[in-house]
Amino acid sequence: MSLGLSRREILTGVLAMPLISGMMVTTPVDGMSSGDSGATVPVPARNFGAAVRPDQLSSENALCDAIRGCQILVPEYHGQWSAVEWRRGDPWYGNYDAICDFAERNGQIVRGHSLIWEKMTPDWARDEMAERRDWRTIERHFATLVPRYRGRISEWVVVNEMIDTQDGDHGLRRTSFQRAYGNDYVRRALETARALDPSAKLMINDYSLVYDNPIDEARRNRMLRLVEDLKARNVPLDMVGIQGHLELAKGKVDQRRTARFLKDLAAMDVEIAITELDVLESDMSLPIPNRDARVASTVHDLLDVALDQPAVRSVVTWGLSDQDSWLQDRARSTREAQTCSPVDCHRLNRGLPFDGEMKPKPMQIALSRVRALA
Ligand code: XIL
Repeated sequence: MSLGLSRREILTGVLAMPLISGMMVTTPVDGMSSGDSGATVPVPARNFGAAVRPDQLSSENALCDAIRGCQILVPEYHGQWSAVEWRRGDPWYGNYDAICDFAERNGQIVRGHSLIWEKMTPDWARDEMAERRDWRTIERHFATLVPRYRGRISEWVVVNEMIDTQDGDHGLRRTSFQRAYGNDYVRRALETARALDPSAKLMINDYSLVYDNPIDEARRNRMLRLVEDLKARNVPLDMVGIQGHLELAKGKVDQRRTARFLKDLAAMDVEIAITELDVLESDMSLPIPNRDARVASTVHDLLDVALDQPAVRSVVTWGLSDQDSWLQDRARSTREAQTCSPVDCHRLNRGLPFDGEMKPKPMQIALSRVRALA
């Protein structure tokens, strides 16, 4: 890295001006930005964060330094229902405790992820919901976690990935929750969470919302209708999470449609979070600098619109180092690169801010725009 920055500055993101491939990009600083009209408008503080795994918090290394530089921590998967309560009635709090303890030592916010997500629901709970259709299954689960972390977990993803406009029922995914309780389970889940912790911000979170294709378009519309419906009924929904799992094979982020979507959400009085940001590459045969520039460029495209929208309050990447990225699981060759020793960083998918050796990449510089606004 030849930017004349100390390693610590790079790791903790103390950067004011983003640079990509030698190009300067201006960014709002000092809490003001100039809009189209040339007038200055206040820029809200933005928080930057990352998904972490509890085992990453206990070693003194570059990754841990970078995690300390975050303002928000989200458990990557150890916070899911199936990870917390694998056996009914026998919850394991060690992972959430470790993340909360670390966050408290470092003055960070913790976002719980997630209370309801079909993919990480334990089998016993699926069976119980199917047999009894009794909301007490959900209440018990929420009561296991939410009050215990009141004041320590300040944001909860209450329902994760509920939209399915292709095979869903009225655009909502056919899940154990939907089958047991009907589509109104989203409302009930938010109300149940609010009753257990009136101070935590409550979120719903979903993916495929930023590209120009019929599926993303339908999903954006369904998300807007869902938020509109919840808000009209005074359901406690504070934030909408837009998963940023970007895929280069899908083309460019549609800035116009995304900006419009964010504006429509903001008009319904919800905060917006860019969550789970990472980039799945499409051509790993290119030279590394080109690959890294393409990844950073698509992140810039998303951040351009996201940071222009005052309702967007945070940006969270889905991990920090390529070595730990879940995206390696999507291709056998990159998974092999991850597990060989030493790690073959060139063969890994390079969709996170740091490579497998914790060297910062242009994506990290792109993200400094968020930190500059913190
Ligand atoms: C992923 C984790 O990164 C993986 O390690 C885990 O095996 C599966 O879940 N949408 C989400 C995240 O909301 O929780 C998922 O995280 C990625 C897709």
